[in-house]
Amino acid sequence: MIIDFHSHILPGIDDGAKTWTDFLEISQLAAAAGITHMVCTPHFIYKEVEFKPETYYRLLSEARYKLREQGLNISLISGSEVFYVPKLLFCLKEGLIITINNGNKYLMVEFARFDIPNNVGETITMLKNQGITPIIAHPERNLVFSNEPELLIKLIKRGALSQLNVGSIVGEYGDKIRKTAELFLKSGIIHLLGSDVHSPKNAFRNFNLGMETIERLVGVKMTIELKDINPLKIIKGDMLEPYFIELKYKKSFLKIDPNNIKRNLKELLRGGKDLNGPS
Ligand SMILES: [Fe+2]
Repeated sequence: MIIDFHSHILPGIDDGAKTWTDFLEISQLAAAAGITHMVCTPHFIYKEVEFKPETYYRLLSEARYKLREQGLNISLISGSEVFYVPKLLFCLKEGLIITINNGNKYLMVEFARFDIPNNVGETITMLKNQGITPIIAHPERNLVFSNEPELLIKLIKRGALSQLNVGSIVGEYGDKIRKTAELFLKSGIIHLLGSDVHSPKNAFRNFNLGMETIERLVGVKMTIELKDINPLKIIKGDMLEPYFIELKYKKSFLKIDPNNIKRNLKELLRGGKDLNGPS
């Protein structure tokens, strides 16, 4: 079983798949890569990029129907990727955002690539007090976490979980992000894996290589936890205690050398079109 915990496959709802043809092409490639479950996580940015839950669920049921029609054996699970705003709790209360499997227990949250607001720790505690565990989307792609992994660990200690993009470990977003992904995986900071697929172009091209690389880095047992056991617990709404093992790194390799800032920025730019927005 492989559970892809992060995807933008529902058409026309965000910057992911544009058409049902895109959706089916992505699904075929996912099935060929061995993926059995996909959590459908379109972007939600309060007051900027919103969608109505009714629209989401209509698309999701149509998507399930289309997969059945094509004989593709992939289970689709509901969710969203919510851009961090201090009003996260308000959005939840108003029913504006979709939690994982609509269970009101887990919520995927993403941060701007260059910024982690100061009040995030408090928001995580408030969410936990409401019975909701935030899942930090692809922290390896965030420059602040990459330069200061201790900050991510602090948030995990407050109860957050984290999801890594499989493409990060094979250098799809550049070498700095690849090294960060390696560090986070080896340190046990990561709890879930996802493709973050947005379009059929190059979809899952490196997914199997990424999974092999992860298995080589953390071993078979941990890989099964990441792709299978942990996500299943979350989908069922069971408790998954955040954990991290031990920070395994030499601080120097992650720090940006001022002489190489241009090179690092180039790498980051190669990793995405929008530097400070959602990814
Ligand atoms: Fe995403």
